[in-house]
Amino acid sequence: MIKFLLNQEVREEALLSPNMTVLNYLRTKVKKAGTKEGCGSGNCGACTVVLGEMVNGRLEYRSVNACLVLVSTLHGKQLITVEDLQGEDRSLHPVQQALVNHHGSQCGYCTPGIIMSMFALSKNRPQADKQDVLESLSGNLCRCTGYRPIIDAALSLSTTAPYQDSFTRQMQSTIDKLNSINNEPASLQLNNQSCFSPATTDELAELLLAHPHARIVAGGTDLALEVTQHHREIEILVDICRIKDMKCINETDHYINIGANVPLSDCYPILNTYFPDFGEMLRRFASLQIRNQGTLGGNIANASPIGDTPPLLIALDASITLRQGSDSRTIPVEDYFISYRKTELRPSEFIEKITIPKPEANKTFHGYKNSKRIGDDISAVCGGFYIEIEADTVISARIAFGGMAAIPKRAVNCEQSLVGHSWNLDTINTAIAALESDFVPLSDFRASKAYRQQIAANMLYRYFIEQQNSHFTTRVTSYG
Ligand SMILES: Cc1cc2nc3c(=O)[nH]c(=O)nc-3n(C[C@H](O)[C@H](O)[C@H](O)COP(=O)(O)OP(=O)(O)OC[C@H]3O[C@@H](n4cnc5c(N)ncnc54)[C@H](O)[C@@H]3O)c2cc1C
Ligand code: FES
Ligand code: FES
Repeated sequence: MIKFLLNQEVREEALLSPNMTVLNYLRTKVKKAGTKEGCGSGNCGACTVVLGEMVNGRLEYRSVNACLVLVSTLHGKQLITVEDLQGEDRSLHPVQQALVNHHGSQCGYCTPGIIMSMFALSKNRPQADKQDVLESLSGNLCRCTGYRPIIDAALSLSTTAPYQDSFTRQMQSTIDKLNSINNEPASLQLNNQSCFSPATTDELAELLLAHPHARIVAGGTDLALEVTQHHREIEILVDICRIKDMKCINETDHYINIGANVPLSDCYPILNTYFPDFGEMLRRFASLQIRNQGTLGGNIANASPIGDTPPLLIALDASITLRQGSDSRTIPVEDYFISYRKTELRPSEFIEKITIPKPEANKTFHGYKNSKRIGDDISAVCGGFYIEIEADTVISARIAFGGMAAIPKRAVNCEQSLVGHSWNLDTINTAIAALESDFVPLSDFRASKAYRQQIAANMLYRYFIEQQNSHFTTRVTSYG
């Protein structure tokens, strides 16, 4: 059974398919059809709902795509949909009223999702500026109103005094209810499908030993697509979203440790502090809804050749700790990927944490993502560059790319042609030529082989320009 709050109502559900998404649950089981289905694959935001969750003693609200969240994830959380915003007298919520005042809706299909993104933003950042607004709406498409009135509506909320609504008034009661259900065990079973929701890493390790072929679901932003787009039925799921010890970030003198289960949006502050380009890449990773749900561990485990974090982690010489039962082993991230979607992960094993060495003197890290759109788009090529230069000579170089091969991979020949040489344009041109022998990229609908090769070369050249002339503008700094 899973237990959660649907707005303020405590719901208990036992007979649900663990393969069911929250979107289908709302529309078919609860008969709340305010949450819309546009794409069913995390790309349009029409299905945006808000999840309330206790984090370190505080109630936090996050926008997520209901079409990518499996129902097991709801356990111990508050699910808020667009229907819940209206007052009992059917008066409009301040967020809805703002959209009306600024003429932010025409056909209205995207509107419930836009309202929910604005609602989460106004709860989390009552003084939101334009960048905050753009970030919060980065996963919401509108095809007929145009974004200006929508952005104006969202901004108007931060120029007025913070509003009080039913969620503010009932906050303590919500917290009490969530605290009382949080520690209860959770699982789902329907016909031949089951889902376990362990609360600790030890429980997870034991469950996976008992069910070596179970599929782990973390954020579900990749895995849910197997169900919704490929119509696969997953018989045994292990939902790890409740495991708090895999959601921790800590740092030592020399390392940053990030639990595999930390949502990408929570990875941002620490990675942005030590490696601003990693932060920049995370700001461009999918949409806020997906970053709120998707995890760093899931991005590595998924082993996509175009996943954004692996090339950056490989360049930074990060490692991952894998656990199987009570045994743990730590391997470099670069050794995790064997061939297309084939990894080092053994049956019953899982990624427990990611360890990134802190920045070192004389080494400069840059990461670049090339995609057709600034936000909510998968990379054609993504590159991580970590180069150590002393007295104008290259001492060490770690360069890795996604989108250039069947796995995220280092450009070994390119690296070798840099090390020991002077840091100048001749050396860069030699390294660019060496890149040709490192990869034989694929042509697909995202980019041709020649384009990928050219982009990889351009990224190295851009790194050189940024190192030589830090005052040159090489980047888009505002998306307004
Ligand atoms: C619209 C859209 C846009 C996207 N944009 C981007 C993008 O810009 N860049 C990008 O890189 N990706 C993108 N993705 C892909 C996805 O969001 C990321 O890969 C995300 O990090 C996956 O994390 P998750 O927690 O949701 O993984 P899940 O979907 O839960 O899991 C993915 C896989 O990893 C396994 N797994 C998860 N956690 C563990 C663990 N701890 N140990 C072992 N196995 C585990 C699961 O069994 C599953 O096979 C996008 C996806 C969508 C739908
Ligand atoms: S229906 Fe399009 S993002 Fe969910
Ligand atoms: S109002 Fe029609 S898609 Fe946005």
